[in-house]
Amino acid sequence: MNKLNAMLIDALNDEWKAAFQYYIHASQFRVLHNDPISEHMKDHADDEVGHAERLSIHLLGKGVDFQVVIPEVSSSLDTVEMIAQDLQDEVTTIDKYSAILDAIGDDPKLTDTRVLIEDITTDEVEHQDENAALLKTKIDARKQAMAGGDQGAVIPDEVMAKAMNAFVRLADQSDRLAVRTNSQAFVRRANVVSTWAADCVKNG
Ligand SMILES: [Fe+2]
Ligand SMILES: [Fe+2]
Repeated sequence: MNKLNAMLIDALNDEWKAAFQYYIHASQFRVLHNDPISEHMKDHADDEVGHAERLSIHLLGKGVDFQVVIPEVSSSLDTVEMIAQDLQDEVTTIDKYSAILDAIGDDPKLTDTRVLIEDITTDEVEHQDENAALLKTKIDARKQAMAGGDQGAVIPDEVMAKAMNAFVRLADQSDRLAVRTNSQAFVRRANVVSTWAADCVKNG
């Protein structure tokens, strides 16, 4: 098996993992927290299934056999922790797709693969932006409820650390993508997300 095909199969496995994780989180947000964020998670899950199917069709079309092996799903009952996990995973996914694009390079025989991966990456960037905004909104809401005396809203230290870590990783990646794509949008995002990470430390 060549390196690129192995990377594509790994990406396929990760897509199925992401789909299951988002479906589980969607369900938990709905049934445990009665939280409309559930709908966003469900939309992301549906997108991940679409990515898995497109990768499967692509691999089979190239004559590459594969067995789906789904990596372990991250799970939590805490609303902040669930979104932080999903954000971390999107950062990892985009790093992996960037590595796949590097492996493809400008080989004209792999144009179809490059177009597919660029297309999927566009969705992942949208998921990532939405997860980051949801995480910030959720942390602010929990802090406000805590200030109002709601003990159930307290964000455990290790969960806050996870959220901060997710923001820091996203800011680092945005800096790298800004250099790679020469995009001011990524520079702006890195700045915003760095502020959010600092916020976690300040009030965490
Ligand atoms: Fe995906
Ligand atoms: Fe995604």
